[in-house]
Amino acid sequence: MIGKLNHVALVVSDLEAACKSWQQMLGAQLSEAQALPEHGVTVVFIDLPNTRIELLEPLGDGSPVSRFLEKHVGGGMHHICLEVEDILKARDELTAKGARILGKGEPKIGAHGNPVLFMHPADFHGTLIELEEVKPAA
Ligand code: CO
Repeated sequence: MIGKLNHVALVVSDLEAACKSWQQMLGAQLSEAQALPEHGVTVVFIDLPNTRIELLEPLGDGSPVSRFLEKHVGGGMHHICLEVEDILKARDELTAKGARILGKGEPKIGAHGNPVLFMHPADFHGTLIELEEVKPAA
């Protein structure tokens, strides 16, 4: 069912400071910061040869990552994102196997313009997994 690792998302309490660390210490290539109000985050992408890192900073009131920062002071790993070819098919297969989808169970458009869903971390031993629909290149 699953394909490539699309990204690893890290929550940070100070996006500017985090960008500086990744850039200056690791030589990372950073994207411009992008505000995603419907997800409650500002995101910066770091392209690596085989995947991406996303730095997430809370945006607005009630950001889901603010709650994360209360428990993980300073930041930490938030989720991994795995690619699937057909997100509705993946969702239906997973729910048939007993996995729970967060929210209303309907895909939302993620930071890369593709439909995404999150699965309940309790069903995956404490790790939050995002699924992103990425159509195979024609
Ligand atoms: Co993500």
